[in-house]
Amino acid sequence: MSKRLRVAVLMGGRSSEHEISITSGRSVLAALDPERYEAATVEIGRDGRWELGTGAASAVETLPVPTSGGAPATLADVDVVLPILHGPFGEDGTVQGLLELADVPYVGAGVAASAVNMDKDLMKAVLQARGVPTTKSVTIREGDAARHPFEYPVFVKPARLGSSVGISKVRDASELDAAVALARQHDDKVLIEEFVDGVEVECGVLGNRRPIASLPGEIVAHGFSGADWYDYSSKYDEGGMDLIVPPRVPAEAVSRVQELSVDAFVATECEGMARVDCFVAVGGEVLVNELNTIPGFTPTSVYAKLFEASGVPYAELLDRLIELALERHERRSRLKY
Ligand SMILES: Nc1ncnc2c1ncn2[C@@H]1O[C@H](COP(=O)(O)OP(=O)(O)OP(=O)(O)O)[C@@H](O)[C@H]1O
Ligand SMILES: [Mg+2]
Repeated sequence: MSKRLRVAVLMGGRSSEHEISITSGRSVLAALDPERYEAATVEIGRDGRWELGTGAASAVETLPVPTSGGAPATLADVDVVLPILHGPFGEDGTVQGLLELADVPYVGAGVAASAVNMDKDLMKAVLQARGVPTTKSVTIREGDAARHPFEYPVFVKPARLGSSVGISKVRDASELDAAVALARQHDDKVLIEEFVDGVEVECGVLGNRRPIASLPGEIVAHGFSGADWYDYSSKYDEGGMDLIVPPRVPAEAVSRVQELSVDAFVATECEGMARVDCFVAVGGEVLVNELNTIPGFTPTSVYAKLFEASGVPYAELLDRLIELALERHERRSRLKY
């Protein structure tokens, strides 16, 4: 048997999406073929502590950068890292930076693409500059009044978070300040966004420089909180949503979603994977809402289901992502600095 690839799955983390990340990370671990991979886990606590587990779990407080002593249980000694972390301190380029310093291949977007796509304000600036149509919004910073030019309803969101945490649908001006205050608990930068009336469609993208789009899927949210949008309950409570593949929109809109999803991936310089969230507005226009560089990653998560429906099953998706990580690292290691 050829040498197994040593893989470390990073999960948990300091963000409010900690639990979701643990669920995704455990699914990844369970799906990695033991004939091909020797897997270890690294659980990052809510407090930021890194716990290395390789059968007998041992706790470390050191950062996983190369050390002269070369403790075998550091991330720098594995062949590839799978950061399955959502939100700040994981999906935002911070962990990716650490992995760059450690010179270890890792799955998914690099530092810049992670940071840009974590920040809905910067993400839109890049997309718009590169000709990708997005939802309209204004950004308000600390001390700014909550003003906007849109008709109600509007969406209010923290710039850098996910899983619908801190997001409100605001139906009239009287609800605005409370929604902004809620979003500000999570970020000092907040977006007020024009409501898009239409169908919510998500698309998976996979690849490095020539990425492919999955079949898109329509999100039908019916969570248990009473919200009429894709809120936390519809995302994570059992039976809170249905994914309809392909979406119930005209064929041209389906191809447009795929085209714009790849464009958005390339425009923001993603690598490996991303789930691109779009709207097909009443009237047919397709807008990109946001990109997620580390989407939910259980076999029943949208990203995996979309690729499954497109002929790439979960375990193969992981194989391909690992190959892409190794390909990028190899390519970049030939650069002169
Ligand atoms: N401009 C909008 N018009 C209509 N609905 C919207 C708009 N913005 C957000 N929504 C609704 O709110 C949900 C969450 O918004 P968004 O995807 O921006 O947040 P997120 O927390 O980053 O999500 P994710 O979990 O995908 O990272 C969307 O899936 C959609 O249902
Ligand atoms: Mg989203």
